[in-house]
Amino acid sequence: MPAPAIEFGGARRADRGSYLDFVVRNLGPVDYLLGMEVRAPREMDRAFRGAGYAFLRFLGLLHRSPVTFLAARAGGKVVGTTIVLYLRESGYVAAVGTEASHRKQGVATRLLDIAEDSIRRRHRPWAVLDVECENASAYRLYRARGYQILQTVGWYRRKTSGPGPRSAIPGTVRPVTTREELKAATAWCTANTPEKLRRVLPPPRGCLSGTELTSLPQWSENATWIAGDGGGTRGYARAYRSGAGDPGFLFLPALSAGIPPSEVYGLTLSALDWLARSSTREIVAPVPDYLAPTVPALESNGFEKVLDTYTMARAL
Ligand SMILES: CC(C)(COP(=O)(O)OP(=O)(O)OC[C@H]1O[C@@H](n2cnc3c(N)ncnc32)[C@H](O)[C@@H]1OP(=O)(O)O)[C@@H](O)C(=O)NCCC(=O)NCCS
Repeated sequence: MPAPAIEFGGARRADRGSYLDFVVRNLGPVDYLLGMEVRAPREMDRAFRGAGYAFLRFLGLLHRSPVTFLAARAGGKVVGTTIVLYLRESGYVAAVGTEASHRKQGVATRLLDIAEDSIRRRHRPWAVLDVECENASAYRLYRARGYQILQTVGWYRRKTSGPGPRSAIPGTVRPVTTREELKAATAWCTANTPEKLRRVLPPPRGCLSGTELTSLPQWSENATWIAGDGGGTRGYARAYRSGAGDPGFLFLPALSAGIPPSEVYGLTLSALDWLARSSTREIVAPVPDYLAPTVPALESNGFEKVLDTYTMARAL
């Protein structure tokens, strides 16, 4: 019997079970670090159910939906997936995967073609994605399509969420509480991000950096700290926590070149202290290459490097 033809297009409500199952089976090491084995089914289930799904379909018809679920189907089963989230300047491409039996037949290539077309139709000039540095086949596929490395991110993990010693926090580090201070934080962090990154992946709404997207900030609670005094701002920390059992996240979204190590340490401890007051099972800290000076503060607080990813972007 000939193999069933592969069809490509938006995922249907009837694909829900097969789509979720596929995405979870194809999670990579960084997805586990992000807690996606728990979070992806929960968040996608919301998107595929009842009113949520109807609303996304409706927005999709108007080219307004914040997310597109693409599927390759063979014999009624999902054999390939790609999800696109529409950001300010880009479409963020996630969950690229092909069933092992259907690889090397151009399935991912076709899904990426459709994803990039939909990003162009939304007038976003860039396609952006993250790939593990060790994932040679995916990296080759993206490079061949013209994706270039925007940043390398080191992923650090701390297995417990216990606090650090409070006395080590200098008086120049304090929480950011008012709306005005948060606005100033976004402006300062954006201005202190490398130019290319700022252009392609400016902080999504409510975030201080593009990298925060990986923590699914829309479903989390966050807190922010500033290091600075009359002499000016020298850096920020931002932490996220969500449901019980989900990892907590620690970001140092931007630092000035002259920030003393004691303040980097103090920002880290302030965030750890806040995260310790939740049921977070472990803490994940993604560190883009331009923030390498934060690594000693993380390591001296029990974080260990787990893996590296590239953030890649293609001009459309
Ligand atoms: C990476 C992955 C998505 C690629 O999917 P795929 O459907 O096999 O991708 P394609 O078929 O479009 O391209 C893969 C290769 O097959 C080749 N190819 C494409 N069509 C072909 C065809 N008709 N005949 C022969 N080779 C073909 C491509 O040139 C490419 O070659 P390369 O490996 O030398 O670069 C897949 O390996 C996968 O699901 N991996 C696990 C999940 C994962 O890592 N996802 C990426 C997360 S960032």
